[in-house]
Amino acid sequence: MKDLYMIACVSKDGGLGKDGGLLWHIPEDMKFFRETTKGSTVIMGRKTFESIGRALPGRRNIVLSSRKGESADVEWCTREELEDTLKTVSGKKFVIGGASLYEMFLPAAEKIYLTEVDGVKPADTLFPEFDKSKWHREIIQDSEYDGAKYEIVEYTRR
Ligand SMILES: NC(=O)c1ccc[n+]([C@@H]2O[C@H](COP(=O)([O-])OP(=O)(O)OC[C@H]3O[C@@H](n4cnc5c(N)ncnc54)[C@H](OP(=O)(O)O)[C@@H]3O)[C@@H](O)[C@H]2O)c1
Repeated sequence: MKDLYMIACVSKDGGLGKDGGLLWHIPEDMKFFRETTKGSTVIMGRKTFESIGRALPGRRNIVLSSRKGESADVEWCTREELEDTLKTVSGKKFVIGGASLYEMFLPAAEKIYLTEVDGVKPADTLFPEFDKSKWHREIIQDSEYDGAKYEIVEYTRR
């Protein structure tokens, strides 16, 4: 889908989160996320929205759920409504998690921004496996935080 991107931070084994929270809290990764998604539409699952706890400012927030949630500062969509809503969104759309949304949108994504941390932590949600030979890999940033090396990578579908 045009202008549909995914953005995530993963451990070496694809770990995304545990007990509803993130595994890594890397300030430069958070900054990259903020700057990359600023002014765009973000799409997330209900559990990810609950883990963030509020709408992300300066972005159109769409939350996928089987029912309407109580927060009025985001747009609640069922799977069917999301299909229709996405057709009306102009500009960049970022899938920001969690695992079920990454899985769902992997076939449609044009780009994936992955912060790949060279470390492993116990996780209960994983980023889906994908065939990296089908994507062009470009390192945007590489650094280290709190003893963990990481690369911020842009994958573009070949
Ligand atoms: N490392 C990262 O970059 C990153 C990014 C985001 C999230 N995370 C982590 O990932 C974890 C959450 O991910 P998750 O996979 O467990 O949950 P999630 O994808 O955020 O949310 C799952 C929920 O989305 C809704 N949903 C999914 N598919 C649907 C469908 N076809 N139709 C209607 N609703 C649908 C359902 O909500 P209802 O139950 O309300 O119907 C479902 O329970 C947390 O630990 C979070 O911290 C990590």
